[in-house]
Amino acid sequence: MADVRPESLKRITTRELADAFIADQIAAIKEQVGDKKVLLALSGGVDSSVVAALLIKAIGENLVCVHVNHGLLRKGEPEMVCKVFRDELGANLIYIDAVDRFLDLLAGVTDPEQKRHIIGEEFIKVFAEEAAKLDGISFLAQGTIYPDILESEQGIKAHHNVGGLPPELDFELVEPVKYLYKDEVRVVGSALGLPDNMVYRQPFPGPGLGVRCPGAITRDRLEAVRESDAILREEFEKAGLAGKVWQYFTVVPDFKSTGIKDGKRAFEWLCIVRAINTTDVVKCTVEPIDYDLMCRITDRITHEVPGINRVLYDYTPKPTATVEYE
Ligand code: XMP
Repeated sequence: MADVRPESLKRITTRELADAFIADQIAAIKEQVGDKKVLLALSGGVDSSVVAALLIKAIGENLVCVHVNHGLLRKGEPEMVCKVFRDELGANLIYIDAVDRFLDLLAGVTDPEQKRHIIGEEFIKVFAEEAAKLDGISFLAQGTIYPDILESEQGIKAHHNVGGLPPELDFELVEPVKYLYKDEVRVVGSALGLPDNMVYRQPFPGPGLGVRCPGAITRDRLEAVRESDAILREEFEKAGLAGKVWQYFTVVPDFKSTGIKDGKRAFEWLCIVRAINTTDVVKCTVEPIDYDLMCRITDRITHEVPGINRVLYDYTPKPTATVEYE
């Protein structure tokens, strides 16, 4: 039977409506879970972060959060998740450094689909191994939101949060935001006290920086993607574009060109900057980036990021391009 949003649930657009939703959900979670333990894969994305914050309020230490660092996260991300959830919200958080495990498996793999497959499979493996070590887990919390349910039911995309659990993770589900749209999840996140850079963060693909390092991922080129992405984010924030542009990131393909650094030949990678706007992600337009801003970004990336001597701006809309490169 179709899983439909209850008619009694008002659109959550204000702090008051968010507070009422939070109070209702805390009561519902307490009733569903009692004094049992709940497991959550906490990526640091908006949806899983809001679910974590809700469950911490409802059941405290009985929520066990697992944050897997697969080595493809953005600069500062694992640190931010640990700081916000462990230090500030007092979460029972297990941090797993799986960087070598993922990067060793990905070494030499050039096919984009195979890369995605390896990352997705390994993530579930790492998470399931961690779950098996824990005693007394009865529930699994997920950041499923309403568009995930709609897209799965319409056959647009088999969302990983809907019906795709491996048999060893066959726990009863806790999905407190499953009837909310993304903008409502953000309002609830703010009301729960999560920081703006977590609540209003741009979309980030599950395979992370792996799809922005086209070709076989190497540690040095991955580092160049991470550092250039951090510079781009910093410059967009300074320019007041952070909350306004839908998505912006850098890509460092496995390709080198000739340049000059310190008077010497420098045969190095190039870095592509991409910034797009969209409402539905089906069609995207390119942000008409300011020339001076682009010059500043170029200057910083070519001087601060080892291995990059050239920066390009991608003017291609979707279609014909997709947002990501792989
Ligand atoms: P494309 O490249 O398909 O991207 O035009 C559209 C939007 O989806 C994001 N994206 C992903 N998100 N897992 C995700 O959770 C993925 O494998 C994935 N691939 C693309 C992309 O960042 C953009 O916002």
